[in-house]
Amino acid sequence: MNHTRTFALATGLGLALQLAHAQALPQPSAGLMPNPAQGKRLFEKNCAVCHGQDLRGSDKGPPLLHPVYEPSHHGDAAFQMAVRYGVRAHHWKFGDMPPVSGVSADEVAHITAYVRQQQRLVGIR
Ligand code: HEC
Repeated sequence: MNHTRTFALATGLGLALQLAHAQALPQPSAGLMPNPAQGKRLFEKNCAVCHGQDLRGSDKGPPLLHPVYEPSHHGDAAFQMAVRYGVRAHHWKFGDMPPVSGVSADEVAHITAYVRQQQRLVGIR
């Protein structure tokens, strides 16, 4: 095997590993009971700067109380993926959402429970 081919294989493998990693869905702990009250606190600390204290958006990010984020359009997995890997801008003109570090899958599950509770209160379900 020549060097070019070894290099191509190594690069291909590296890319495959990166893709596999980029697609892995963060999983909350088995048996976790997502808690909206805990989620509210975590949301205010980690997400409100862009999505707004009242979930109605800011000049840095979109409202989550919006039909585009109803559970059938953006399921709970979308929240896990958004927080871990960030979001390439595709629905809005705010730019990309960067990954939010230091927020665990369990914490994202609490945040999602809070967002779903608030969505239901305004009739988004
Ligand atoms: C630095 C600003 C910023 C922060 C902080 C931020 N977001 Fe975002 N978020 C955005 C922007 C901008 C978008 C919209 C991207 C688009 O679709 O155009 C977005 C989109 C999303 C989406 C939609 C994902 C999709 O698949 O379209 C979810 C869910 C989300 N954010 C959840 C969160 C949560 C939960 C937190 C806190 C842990 C958070 N965001 C923190 C800016 C932010």
